[in-house]
Amino acid sequence: MGKYIRILTTPPGPKAKEIIKKDEELLMQSYVRWYPFVVAGGEGAVVEDVDGNRYIDFNSGLVVLNTGHLHPKVIEAVELQLKRYIHYSLTDFYYELAVEYAEKLFSALPWKDNKIFYTNSGAESIEAVIKVAKGYFEGKRNYFIGFLGAFHGRTIGSLSFTASKAIQRKFFFPLMPGVIHVPYPYPYRCPFNSKTPKECAENVLGYIEDWIFKKYVDPGEVAAFLIEPVQGEGGYVVPPKEFMTGLKKLAEKHGILFAVDEVQSGMGRTGKLLAIEHFGVRPDLAALAKGIASGFPLGALVGRRDVMTLPGGSHANTFGGNPVSLAAAKATLDLLTGGLMDNARVLGEYIMKRFTEYMEKYEIIGDVRGLGLMIGVELVRDRKTKEPASKELNTIINNCFKRGVLVIGAGASSIRIAPPLVITREQVDEALEIIEDEIRKADKSLKS
Ligand SMILES: Cc1ncc(COP(=O)(O)O)c(C=O)c1O
Repeated sequence: MGKYIRILTTPPGPKAKEIIKKDEELLMQSYVRWYPFVVAGGEGAVVEDVDGNRYIDFNSGLVVLNTGHLHPKVIEAVELQLKRYIHYSLTDFYYELAVEYAEKLFSALPWKDNKIFYTNSGAESIEAVIKVAKGYFEGKRNYFIGFLGAFHGRTIGSLSFTASKAIQRKFFFPLMPGVIHVPYPYPYRCPFNSKTPKECAENVLGYIEDWIFKKYVDPGEVAAFLIEPVQGEGGYVVPPKEFMTGLKKLAEKHGILFAVDEVQSGMGRTGKLLAIEHFGVRPDLAALAKGIASGFPLGALVGRRDVMTLPGGSHANTFGGNPVSLAAAKATLDLLTGGLMDNARVLGEYIMKRFTEYMEKYEIIGDVRGLGLMIGVELVRDRKTKEPASKELNTIINNCFKRGVLVIGAGASSIRIAPPLVITREQVDEALEIIEDEIRKADKSLKS
């Protein structure tokens, strides 16, 4: 028990068990569930389950609720919109909210001359990247460069880029042809055994130039690079700054589009509206979803005005840019720019500092990295061999759940820290006390 956490019955309680049993009977079980959490309500960074237990949320269910649970400003905006109109498809008609949100978003971006296309999800925003890029080159460039460890969605087009776990692609061959995967510059585990992050960046860029572009595909046939500015599912991996600037230069040199997937890293999570802003690089296309509308289904593709040029009839969707979701998105953006991004920066630095201190005490922590409130804590069984401590990660995550902290993993063995941006220092401290204790226990068990 703490000020925010309240565990009445060790979860899953009786009501949760009943629901999970039915879920297993009735729903296709293709999801990844880390633990038996059954939500009943929430407020800010605290959530309650169906048995009355209260938890501090480090998941934002899942990296969506950047404004927290039930933010009153979001509720107010949605309620107002619900009394006006709920739907009138942009495929064939117009409404003001669609332009209002675009204007608001563009004024929060550091780049001018943008256009937007609305979608319903992250995967659908990636599908839009593919179609816009192919359309821009009028079907003359049909190759793409993606990255190992990436997650971009589960539809066939987006799945063609996804490469963070083999099971995601298993059974679905053939995917969209033309996607070439290259290593992601993962400083802690650079695939080229580079000694420094800068060297890792140079090696990956060199590999693309010297091996892919000279031996495999002419760069003049490549439509776009698609990259996560911080790799999400792949382990919350922050690439070296030099890599993004180098990749952008490479793109410009060969007339290739530079597309970023900001579905998880965007919407204020890293302390800036888009994570790519940390690297000082302008993307040609940026895919958005998750945190954009505080839990209402919405995604978007934002891009350079001269690139977003698909002609009438070539792309659309019935529900994309739903008015209720857009009302939520407008309120969300006001909250992000009105202080939440600052909180992400301040508390992100604080959490990074705390984990860096834990790293000195517990050898199981191999690496701590992050931007804002997108932090990865990589666990290893041995600092020399860097063997992933996947089993230990699972134990830590499950014990945290039983003690009232909701947090999950990413990559092979990283703790994924992604709380709502409304979280307070006091809530962070209450959760970290439990997480540290579980890390300490796992560290001790490795040594015994
Ligand atoms: C970086 C990234 N891109 C795309 C997606 C796919 O989004 P959705 O699940 O909304 O299709 C995700 C989902 O986790 C993601 O993290």
